[in-house]
Amino acid sequence: MREKDEFVLVFDSGLGGLSVLRELTQVLPGERFLYFGDSANAPYGTRPTQEVRRLTLEAIGSFMPRGVKAIVVACNTATAAAIEALREAYPNKIVIGMEPALKLAADRHRGGRILVMATNVTLREAKFCALMDRFSAESRVVPLPCPGLVEFVEAGQLDTPELRAYLASLLEPVLARGADAIVLGCTHFPFLRPLIQELAGPQVEILDGGHGTALQTRRRLEAEGLLRESTQGLVELYNSLGTPEILQRSAGLLGL
Ligand code: DGL
Repeated sequence: MREKDEFVLVFDSGLGGLSVLRELTQVLPGERFLYFGDSANAPYGTRPTQEVRRLTLEAIGSFMPRGVKAIVVACNTATAAAIEALREAYPNKIVIGMEPALKLAADRHRGGRILVMATNVTLREAKFCALMDRFSAESRVVPLPCPGLVEFVEAGQLDTPELRAYLASLLEPVLARGADAIVLGCTHFPFLRPLIQELAGPQVEILDGGHGTALQTRRRLEAEGLLRESTQGLVELYNSLGTPEILQRSAGLLGL
């Protein structure tokens, strides 16, 4: 297989990375994508870091024999735990990770109050602490761990009374002190954007890193001469649960 025709592997702990794949297919319509969601082991965000690293390396490793030119870790949690190990394991591949879009939020809301919704792992790891240190001087950054939220998305609940009640209990106390922007620092959360926007009100800007990640992937493929200039892209969806229901839910979230 020619290198340009090799796959872009997109990985997440479950269905969240589909919000990134959606952006990738728009920015890179000619590429061949493999998507793997590890829903059998989701959520990753409340596990010990070492376990997240092992699960990530194992899952990605199992797809490499397919012929992969780039790996997009469409998961803030897996990036925080495993990006260095992945770069070490695959020094000749493009490896793209994700981090909460705090830089974007701080640029747009200088001096403002910025909430960062993410998993426990993402918020406690060194990568985010460094990011927070960088922007805390100029903005008020409020990390908001959201255990339990990923499970709603995995279950296909994007707007139910239980989800509304849970989100309100999470957001109302912090929103009461005001907010200029909310960063969705977990790739599952863009699927909850309408609900979060409704609770936060129209004056609060909601940002995520999906589009930026897609653009960065394009730049890297271009720079390395690996962009597939075809009009016919391809998406193959896989999930560790392997049931028709989860694949159907995946296709639905992707908008297929
Ligand atoms: N989608 C993942 C992220 O971006 C986290 C989901 C999980 O906890 O498994 O952080």
